[in-house]
Amino acid sequence: MKLSNGYDIPSPGFGTYKTPDGEVCIEAVRTAIEAGYTHIDTAAVYGNERSVGEGLRQSGADRSKLFITSKVWNTNRGYDNTLRSFEQSLSDLGLDYLDLFLIHWPANRQQFGDRADAINLDTWRAIERLVDEKVLRSPGLSNFYPLYMEPILANANIAPVVDQIEFHPGLLQTETLALCKANGILVEAWSPLGRGHLMDNPVICKIAEAHGVTPAQAVLRWCLQKDVLPLPKSVHADRIRENIDIFGFTLSDEEMATLDAIPEVRYGSNPDTIAY
Ligand SMILES: NC(=O)c1ccc[n+]([C@@H]2O[C@H](COP(=O)([O-])OP(=O)(O)OC[C@H]3O[C@@H](n4cnc5c(N)ncnc54)[C@H](OP(=O)(O)O)[C@@H]3O)[C@@H](O)[C@H]2O)c1
Repeated sequence: MKLSNGYDIPSPGFGTYKTPDGEVCIEAVRTAIEAGYTHIDTAAVYGNERSVGEGLRQSGADRSKLFITSKVWNTNRGYDNTLRSFEQSLSDLGLDYLDLFLIHWPANRQQFGDRADAINLDTWRAIERLVDEKVLRSPGLSNFYPLYMEPILANANIAPVVDQIEFHPGLLQTETLALCKANGILVEAWSPLGRGHLMDNPVICKIAEAHGVTPAQAVLRWCLQKDVLPLPKSVHADRIRENIDIFGFTLSDEEMATLDAIPEVRYGSNPDTIAY
C-alpha cells in the first residue's frame, strides 16, 4: 500500500503484541520474514524489541526491504521523553532508522482534563523532529479517534500518515475511517482477528468455507478490501503462513456486507474513555 508521504508500506504487517521476548519472538519474526512478511509491528511496551531485532538479523533480510514500526508508550508522552523513547527503541531493535513511529495511545481528557491536547501535541512535535532528523521515515498515530486526531491535524507541521486502531468485523470505526480517508491517513487494523475470538463466529466460518479458506483468511481479506492494513499476530508457523496467504480470492459485495453486519464487539480498550 502507499502512504501519503510517498513511502510504500507492505500489507499485511506482522503483529508482535504478547509475543514472548526471547526465542519465541526471534523465531516468530524469522518465520514471518521467511513466509514473505516485510512489515513488522512492535512497541516499546511489548518488551520484545531486542528479540524482534534479533529475528530481523537472523532472517538475513536486507534492511532496505523491511518496514519496521514501533510506538512511544503512555509513560513517555511529551517532547523529551518521546525523543528518549525513540532512541531506546532504535537501540533495542539494533536499527539506525525506523519506518514508522506512533503515539501508542492519546492522552485523553479522562486522565488529563484540558491538558490532554497539549500533551499530545508535545509528543507529536518530538516525532516531527525525528522526521526532520531523518531517523524516522513516517510519523503516525495509534488509537486516535476524531476527538483527539482533529487537534493534531489542525496543528501538525508534518501530517500523520497512519492511524493504527482496533478494527475487525464487529468494530467498523466508521467515523475514524472517514476522517482518515479525508486526510489521506492509512488505517492499520490491530486485533484484526479479534484476538482469535472471531475464528469461531459462524457467519465468518460460512463465508470462509465458501471460498475454501480459513476464518482468519476471510477476515484479513475483508480488511484488505476495506483498504485497511491488517497486522495479524501469531507465534505458530502454520498460522503465520496462513495469515499472509490472502491474495488468491475476493469476497463479494454481499459477503462484505454480511461481515459488516456482525454485531458490535470490542476486544481492547476504548481510547476515548480509558485512564492510562
Ligand atoms: N496499537 C495498539 O494499541 C495495539 C493494540 C493491540 C495490538 N496491536 C498490534 O496489532 C497486532 C495484532 O493484534 P492482536 O495481537 O491483539 O490480535 P490478533 O492478531 O487479532 O489475534 C492474535 C491471536 O489470534 C491467534 N491467531 C493468529 N492467527 C490465527 C489463525 N490463523 N487462526 C486462529 N487463530 C489465530 C493468535 O494465537 P497464536 O499466536 O497462538 O497463533 C493470537 O491468540 C498486535 O500483535 C500488535 O502488533 C496494537
